[in-house]
Amino acid sequence: MKLRDKVCVVTGGVQGIGRAIVEQYVAEGARVAIPDLNGDAAEAYAAELRERGVQASGYRCDVSVLAEVVAVAEAVERDLGRCEVLVNNAGLALMGPSLDFPEEHWRRSIDVMETGVFFCCQAFGRQLVRGGGAIVNIASMNASVAFPMRLAYNAAKAAVVQMTEVLAIEWAEHGVRVNSIGPGVTRTELVDKAIKEGFIDERAYVERTPMKRLGRPEEIAKAALFLASEEDSSFVTGHFLVVDGGWTAFGYVLP
Ligand SMILES: NC(=O)c1ccc[n+]([C@@H]2O[C@H](COP(=O)([O-])OP(=O)(O)OC[C@H]3O[C@@H](n4cnc5c(N)ncnc54)[C@H](O)[C@@H]3O)[C@@H](O)[C@H]2O)c1
Repeated sequence: MKLRDKVCVVTGGVQGIGRAIVEQYVAEGARVAIPDLNGDAAEAYAAELRERGVQASGYRCDVSVLAEVVAVAEAVERDLGRCEVLVNNAGLALMGPSLDFPEEHWRRSIDVMETGVFFCCQAFGRQLVRGGGAIVNIASMNASVAFPMRLAYNAAKAAVVQMTEVLAIEWAEHGVRVNSIGPGVTRTELVDKAIKEGFIDERAYVERTPMKRLGRPEEIAKAALFLASEEDSSFVTGHFLVVDGGWTAFGYVLP
């Protein structure tokens, strides 16, 4: 049990990659807090986990609103104890041509995926520095490789990688490790929507991926478990770990 009794906070943990991370963490003995914009689903999922014998709490929270994040951080400490692992996973994908990209889509993308990560790191960081722990930021391989139609998304994810490095060096003295993950295209509702809307050509994407398939949420969760586990990654901090089936390494031509 790599996370026995650890209080782990997974933002956006209701579905997709976040849910797979919650499942990996509880399988390793964690207590979990799930702040999600979809509060009803977060509370229902936490109730389901409690029925399975897991200590879990769900909260309605928009990570882009500082007061909500601070209130949830206080509630988590009251309900479960001091946060020892924070996973910043909440996100959304607003895509479209840069020339016509609406201001509100730009602001929402940056508010949730950049500012929201800062708010959560700061609010839960105050608990983390009181005894050590780990932060795992779910960035994207798009932090370092460009896809068209994703100006705000890529900018926010690149910022997450930089925030990861700054916090890693600031908080090393407090025993807090801070790392980020760069998933490749991973089969979730977010990706199903992007495929449906024509922003991802699944066949072409799979063809260009050396491993010839999309990722699975569980595969991202395994990386998130490694980076949360003091036993496994005790000397790893400030790292950006891509989990992408070889997409970013590939620099050749298609046959
Ligand atoms: N799926 C992929 O291919 C992929 C690739 C790279 C990175 N990522 C990143 O992984 C993370 C999870 O993506 P996913 O594919 O599981 O998405 P998803 O849409 O399936 O789930 C996202 C979750 O975040 C929650 N959320 C959204 N906005 C929020 C907010 N403001 N406050 C709190 N919760 C909020 C949603 O309610 C939902 O539960 C995102 O940060 C995404 O950018 C995904």
